[in-house]
Amino acid sequence: MTDQIKMPGVDNNNVRRAAAAAANVAYSIEPISATEKESLKARIKKQLIAQDAVLVAHYYVDADLQQLAEETGGYVSDSLDMARFGNEHPASTLVVAGVRFMGETAKILNPEKRVLMPDLHADCSLDMNCPADEFTAFCDAHPDYTVVVYANTSAAVKARADWMVTSGSAVDVITHLVKKGEKFIWAPDRHLGGYIKDLTGADILLWQGSCIVHDEFRAQELARLKSEHPEAAVLVHPESPEAVVKLADYVGSTTGIIQAAANMDNPSFIVATDNGIFYKMRQAAPGKTFIEAPSAGSGATCQSCAHCPWMAMNNLRNLAEVLETGANEVHVEAAIQARAIKPIQRLLDFTAQQNKA
Ligand code: 13P
Ligand code: SF4
Repeated sequence: MTDQIKMPGVDNNNVRRAAAAAANVAYSIEPISATEKESLKARIKKQLIAQDAVLVAHYYVDADLQQLAEETGGYVSDSLDMARFGNEHPASTLVVAGVRFMGETAKILNPEKRVLMPDLHADCSLDMNCPADEFTAFCDAHPDYTVVVYANTSAAVKARADWMVTSGSAVDVITHLVKKGEKFIWAPDRHLGGYIKDLTGADILLWQGSCIVHDEFRAQELARLKSEHPEAAVLVHPESPEAVVKLADYVGSTTGIIQAAANMDNPSFIVATDNGIFYKMRQAAPGKTFIEAPSAGSGATCQSCAHCPWMAMNNLRNLAEVLETGANEVHVEAAIQARAIKPIQRLLDFTAQQNKA
């Protein structure tokens, strides 16, 4: 049995075009002046209170949004913890600053709550790489494999899965299931899947998706940068290519990367993940230096240049607007929600159990 599969429906040129269009939307907005920023923040704060809403932001979104989440009793974290926080928080409206799968996960876990997003077109290349119909057909063709999907997938793909995992939990979950003698379908990120396969020795059929941001980090240039900064530790998100992961001093989720910067003694760090994370890294490790890992050659030929174009679609203006108008509510079909909640809840229960142990 081969572990490489063809994905006839996935057109990476389409993904690249969508990323370019998202970047165009994100970077063509008029710069927000300091005065406007203050006025937008005041409007958002007022609406959060008036609407019993809480702001949950991912580490990759604009620093102003992360700061606002912190200032208003909301939360900034990775995809796993965003889901957990939204699930446990009593607010009746969750405002998710991130990408669509994060809003959908919040809605799946909390069907009774209203979930809003600053821009519903904030996609994710991994989600786009994994169309539900083709994925379902592939799973149906391999009925004896446990289906494990990454959080970065649509609600319909989660509905076909046995487990949902995040980068912070994938290795622990697969290790647990390997002990029970299970073999796996993993989707969509081939780099993260390959990394888990190497670490755990699991029998895994890998879907061939990739993240447009992490896929662009380049090993050769990273090795050169590393030699220029011998004092720096290299921190890598496992959505990066294998050759980049091999150069890492630490490999882990976004939260893991932030903690590594705080805990390691190095004065500086070369970071292979979205540069939105630098806001939290500077908070967690003040006085240390953070350097972006090189992406797609040393010239200006990168597509994403270490910043997710869909995360960049979130800003103070569209956040204020959705709170004032109620636009951009996330909806998930009831039949899909009922199935998709199972693999997500399974992960939350698993991690809660682990934290207790
Ligand atoms: P985390 O689960 O580590 O937050 O990663 C989400 C993501 O989209 C990484 O690109
Ligand atoms: Fe998806 Fe990559 Fe953006 Fe994360 S950084 S949301 S994996 S496209």
